[in-house]
Amino acid sequence: MSEFETVQEIILKAYRNMSREIWDHVSGGTESETTLLRNRQALDSLGFRPRVLRDVSRVDPSTTLLGKRLRIPVFLAPLGGLSRIHPEGPLLALNGASRFGTLIFLSSVNGSMELEEAAELTKDSLVFQLYIRGDRTWVDAYLERVAGAEIRGFCLTVDIAIYSRRERDLVNRYRPPGRETGEREGFRYQSTMTWDFVDRVRERVAVPLIIKGVATAEDAELAVKHGADVVYVSNHGGRQLDHCFGSMDVLPEVVEAVGGRAEVVIDGGFVRGTDVLKAVALGAKAVGLGKLQAWALAAGGETGLITMLEILEEEISVSMGLLGIRTLDELAPSFVGQVAPVRYPAELSPFPSIEATISKERREGLSLGLRKRDNRR
Ligand SMILES: Cc1cc2nc3c(=O)[nH]c(=O)nc-3n(C[C@H](O)[C@H](O)[C@H](O)COP(=O)(O)O)c2cc1C
Repeated sequence: MSEFETVQEIILKAYRNMSREIWDHVSGGTESETTLLRNRQALDSLGFRPRVLRDVSRVDPSTTLLGKRLRIPVFLAPLGGLSRIHPEGPLLALNGASRFGTLIFLSSVNGSMELEEAAELTKDSLVFQLYIRGDRTWVDAYLERVAGAEIRGFCLTVDIAIYSRRERDLVNRYRPPGRETGEREGFRYQSTMTWDFVDRVRERVAVPLIIKGVATAEDAELAVKHGADVVYVSNHGGRQLDHCFGSMDVLPEVVEAVGGRAEVVIDGGFVRGTDVLKAVALGAKAVGLGKLQAWALAAGGETGLITMLEILEEEISVSMGLLGIRTLDELAPSFVGQVAPVRYPAELSPFPSIEATISKERREGLSLGLRKRDNRR
C-alpha cells in the first residue's frame, strides 16, 4: 500500500521536503506569473459534456506517441536541475517512466546524466531535449551523439531564446542550474537559433524531431514545414514570456494548423486526470508533466513518481467512464465547452484542501527554519 492516496498528499509531502528556494524555483513563473496562472485558468475554463448509457465496464486509457504505447496519455516533461530536486533525480525519473510505461523527455541540463548513460538505461522510453550551449562545432558533435543514440525522439526547446526574469528566484537570491556565473556565456548560443538551425538538425539526425514551445498556428505551420514529427505546445509552464495565453487556449489553433501532419502534445498546468482528458478531447496526443513530476520526485523518489502516475491513471479511467468513453480515440471536441471557472487560479487551486495548510506553514515560517537545515533536495 502506498503512503499516498491522492495527488494532493504527494504535493504536501513535497512541500515539506523541499527547501523554500527549490519549492519556489519549481513552482514559480516569470514576473507577475500571469502566464503560469493562465495555464490553470484555461483548463478551468473548459467544462465536460458527458454522454451516458454507453457500456463503460471496460476502459482503456492507453495511447501511442512517437510509436511507443503509453499506459496513459501523459509523459514526463524535460526538467533542468532534476538532481537538485532529488539527488538521484535523473536516474529515478528514467526508471520511473520506463517502469510505469511512458516516455521521459530528459533535459540536457538535468544535472547528472549524459545522453549515452540515459540511453543505456532505457532507449525505448527516452526522448532527449537539448539546450544549445556552444558554437557550430559543439552542436555538430552533440548531433552526432544524438544520431547514434537510437532513442525515441530528439527535442529542441525553442521558447527560451532569452532566459526570463523569474522573480521568486531573484528575490530568494537563488541561482538556478545553468545560471551561475560563468555558465551564462553559453546561453548566448541558444539566442542565435533560427529555423535554419532546425533544418540542419533534420539533415543530420534521423531520430524523430520534437519542437517544444510552440504557441501559435503560424509557428506550428513552420514547425511542420521544417520537418517536426511532434509539435509541442508549451509556454514553458509560465516560466518564460509573461502575459501569454494559457497553453490550452492555443491548442485548438495549433491542432488545426498541424492538420494531422504531425503529432501534437502539450504541457502547462496539468495536474489532474480531467485536465489530461480535456487536452486529448481538443486534439493533443499526450500531456507533459513539469511541476507535478518534480513534486512527486521530491515527495517519494521513484515510488512517489510511479504512485503519482498511478493516481492519474485512476483519475483518467474513472473520468473516461463517466464521460461515456472506453478508449481515448472516442474523445472529440464535442465533449468539452467553455465555462466560467469556479475559482480564481492560484499556485495550488486544483487542490483546495492543502492550499490553506501550505500557506499557513509558509506564513508561520515554521518550515523555513526546518527546511533550511534540511536542504538536501
Ligand atoms: C524545475 C523546472 C525545470 C525545467 N527545465 C526545463 C528544461 O531543462 N528544458 C525544457 O525544455 N523545459 C524545462 N522546463 C519546462 C517544462 O518542461 C514544462 O514545459 C513545464 O514545466 C510545463 O508546465 P507545468 O510545470 O505546469 O507542468 C522546466 C520546468 C520546471 C518546473
